[in-house]
Amino acid sequence: MATRRAASSSTDAIAILKADHEKVKKLFKDFERLHENESEDEAAEVAKQICNELTIHATVEEEIFYPAVRRAIEDQDMLDEAEVEHATAKDLIAQIESMTPADDKYAAKVIVLGEYINHHVEEEHEEMFPKAKKAKLDMNALGEKMLARKKDLKAEMGLETEEEGSNSKSAPGRKGPASRRAGARA
Ligand SMILES: [Fe+2]
Ligand SMILES: [Fe+2]
Repeated sequence: MATRRAASSSTDAIAILKADHEKVKKLFKDFERLHENESEDEAAEVAKQICNELTIHATVEEEIFYPAVRRAIEDQDMLDEAEVEHATAKDLIAQIESMTPADDKYAAKVIVLGEYINHHVEEEHEEMFPKAKKAKLDMNALGEKMLARKKDLKAEMGLETEEEGSNSKSAPGRKGPASRRAGARA
């Protein structure tokens, strides 16, 4: 518990992005499992959450993290590629958001989005983050901006602001969507 608290209060930009990546990876796994079990309604709930998480994550990267990295490093091609990947992912997200589980290839689109995001995240971890670290960006200042923007985006999207960092769903007397889902599944 104490370690989780420490991790979730981090304002390090890279730690925040990595925590998002982790969370979404887990959600994609949940989706596949629910889909395999033919729990299509629950799978669709998870897909909705994936789309929201990715929209917020991509916006924060595009508005705050990527421009800062772009200013600090030489490799502009890497940033261009990351932005093109975001555009493609957003297109898939928009398609998924306009569909229902009854639509043809709904699950396939979610699963392909997961594979695509995996690839993108790998490049961020292996290429972009090391380069950003070397450039000695002020990761805490960036992280603070990112956390504030995330909070605003969640409010704009009408989402619960249950998390301040990674995934703190341990607030007493409060059941986040994740725990409700866990209950429904059991
Ligand atoms: Fe990204
Ligand atoms: Fe990312």
